[in-house]
Amino acid sequence: MAKILNIGSINIDYVYAVSHFVKAGETIASNTRQIFAGGKGLNQSIAIARCGGDVAHAGAVGDDGEDFVKMLAAEGVDTSFIDTVKAPTGHTIIQVTGDGQNCILLYPGANRELSESFIDRIFAPFGKDDIVVMQNETNCVPYAMRRASDKGMRIAFNPSPFEPGIGGYPLECVSWFILNEIEGGSLTGKERPDDILTTMGEKYPNAVTVLTLGEDGVMCNANGKIIRHGAYKVQVADTTAAGDTFTGYFLSSIAGGMEIEESLMLASKAAAVSVSRKGAAASIPSINEVRSAHLVEG
Ligand code: RIB
Repeated sequence: MAKILNIGSINIDYVYAVSHFVKAGETIASNTRQIFAGGKGLNQSIAIARCGGDVAHAGAVGDDGEDFVKMLAAEGVDTSFIDTVKAPTGHTIIQVTGDGQNCILLYPGANRELSESFIDRIFAPFGKDDIVVMQNETNCVPYAMRRASDKGMRIAFNPSPFEPGIGGYPLECVSWFILNEIEGGSLTGKERPDDILTTMGEKYPNAVTVLTLGEDGVMCNANGKIIRHGAYKVQVADTTAAGDTFTGYFLSSIAGGMEIEESLMLASKAAAVSVSRKGAAASIPSINEVRSAHLVEG
């Protein structure tokens, strides 16, 4: 099984239940506030571990982040590469509506205090058979991509949150893009899923692109072969971390030698279970829960 190095964020998620997303100039009161462990990075590390993968998390927290490191370690994640820095742990303000949709405001904090020397240090024990995954909530992503590429490692990139600067990253090094329609549309200038996948294939011929489509399932362009998988039907409680659950399960499966089709199926099932529960990391199922879930494709 390939080892996975996840260079990713760790956030405190402040989750507010609202009747609708707050609009410009508007003040609304939330019904509840809950505090969860989150961060696209932390969620993905937990998903990889709960799927049975071998994962090391690299990133940074502030003095207030010790519990998150302990939580990752308790999940079996290697936490040797999480530094404590002089900045507060990242946090988010997440609004969740009654139908489970969310919108997220991120304060990156410690997540964007990584240095190039830190990146050099964390790559030392990894080699060309290993996989590195990155999102876009930390800094140093382009540098880490170049370092991983120099080592011959395979790179998975989840360009979230999308920023125009991502177009300037060394994306030709990437082996797997895992993105949603907004991110795919921003990278390609296209709107339709088929067009996004075609353009991704033209721009990055060496990469597999996995395009998640929410309730419409997932499409994948694997060296010109288009693979589709439907979403599983569940009662939606909270969509937060559904994408992270999908990404972690997909990569963990691929790292374990599973074919793309089966990996997409397992990842779709895991994501469906996660949306039926509240919270980010808290909503990610174990592999046994995924395998025993009786879900119907929508
Ligand atoms: O993808 C969900 C995550 O995005 C949340 O846990 C939040 O921390 C933001 O990073």
